[in-house]
Amino acid sequence: MVLDSKKSAQLNFDDQEIDLPIFSPNLGPDVVDIRKLYAQGDVFTYDPGFTSTASCESAITFIDGDKGELLYRGYPIDQLAEKSHFLEVCYLLLYGELPTAAQLDEFVPRVTRHTMLHEQMAYFYRGFRRDAHPMSIICGVQGAMSSFYHDSTDINDPWQREVASIRMIAKMPTVAAWAYKYSIGQPFIYPRNDLDYASNFLHMCFAVPAEEYNVDPIVSRAMDRIFTLHADHEQNASTSTVRLAGSSGANPFACIAAGIACLWGPAHGGANEAALNMLREIGTVDRIPEYIARAKDKDDPFRLMGFGHRVYKNFDPRAKVMKESADEVLGLLGIEDNPTLQVAMELERIALSDPYFIERKLYPNVDFYSGIILDAIGFPTSMFTPIFALARTVGWIAQWKEMIADPTQKIGRPRQLYTGAKHRNYTDVENR
Ligand code: CMC
Repeated sequence: MVLDSKKSAQLNFDDQEIDLPIFSPNLGPDVVDIRKLYAQGDVFTYDPGFTSTASCESAITFIDGDKGELLYRGYPIDQLAEKSHFLEVCYLLLYGELPTAAQLDEFVPRVTRHTMLHEQMAYFYRGFRRDAHPMSIICGVQGAMSSFYHDSTDINDPWQREVASIRMIAKMPTVAAWAYKYSIGQPFIYPRNDLDYASNFLHMCFAVPAEEYNVDPIVSRAMDRIFTLHADHEQNASTSTVRLAGSSGANPFACIAAGIACLWGPAHGGANEAALNMLREIGTVDRIPEYIARAKDKDDPFRLMGFGHRVYKNFDPRAKVMKESADEVLGLLGIEDNPTLQVAMELERIALSDPYFIERKLYPNVDFYSGIILDAIGFPTSMFTPIFALARTVGWIAQWKEMIADPTQKIGRPRQLYTGAKHRNYTDVENR
């Protein structure tokens, strides 16, 4: 708890002077506490997009957008991506500390033993059209989990919260892989608990019953890094959605389904799919100037997908690691001369040297490179955002658990700046 205010700010208006406490967090800018503002001053604050608003107290993830720094529980993301692995990072996000060897030995099998889905869920998949987007399938299947796992929906029971958390982390790879298999008309591949988390996911996506499939360790490592880099990102749109849904007391499966829905948008998790589609649409290096010109044109809504970030006004630290992984995977698969990749590399070079992008601090973000890797591994673009959702599930859960345990937590209920009609009387239809 950092809430020990040593400073305050004064707000003066309409002959009123209101004292607002200021809190100094462990990292990041000071925060002005406006909780009593409405009661004391009869005014609201106005902050669409929450660009200046801290919606909660959190000890999980910290981002310094100007420095290009991302910490999970204090640990820099590049160290975790290099030295750790996804399940260890899950433990860190959920419980606050890196596990000891004994804790990890207990945690990994605990997750692994929950990888199977209730068999009846296979029939649930069959209700979707074959051409349904995998995001729509995972959003639906995730929401439906609350009707398959009744014994872990009581948010007031810490044991049930824990079981629901482990279940979702364990089952999400199966949910996403089955969405993919369903969309291509192949049989579902059941999880293999002898494989690590990333390899098991790749196996469920790419194996077929007719022949053996061996997961390449470099590909599996790249997949694991994608999971690690996407595991949490502070109070972004989907995480805030999960918290808002959870603030009403909704069950955890429903809250995570809400997060998946929010992640789908192209300004958020959908950007990796949109970025690769854009690279393909550009097609050849000679067409890049046309797209750069469109991105700069104020009358054209087009944006370079995979560039820019609300918080990072410096290189996205995740993008640095992802670029290294991209080089490794593309080298392994021998596809450095792929035309989409050539467009990507040239676009990156131009954007990093063009004053429009430099002045606005628009760097390639994590989605720019993750799309390239996932494409090289063999995933269709429609699977990019489901993979992001799979990885972010642990972050959503950690944030949701933190919120439930927070004694100051209230139902999220923003106010508004009303600009609609004032009072008026109903007019009968014949008189309108
Ligand atoms: N291409 C061209 N111009 C851009 C772009 C872009 N991708 N992003 C921002 N700008 C311009 C924008 O037009 C504005 O210019 P001006 O100041 O002249 O009006 C300026 O940069 C600031 O833009 P903004 O809209 O105020 O910035 P924001 O912080 O609200 O938006 C963003 C952040 C991520 C929504 C935006 O950069 C964007 O749409 N990027 C493309 C989508 C994308 O790659 N999203 C993935 C984010 S990373 C994954 C995740 O965490 O979800």
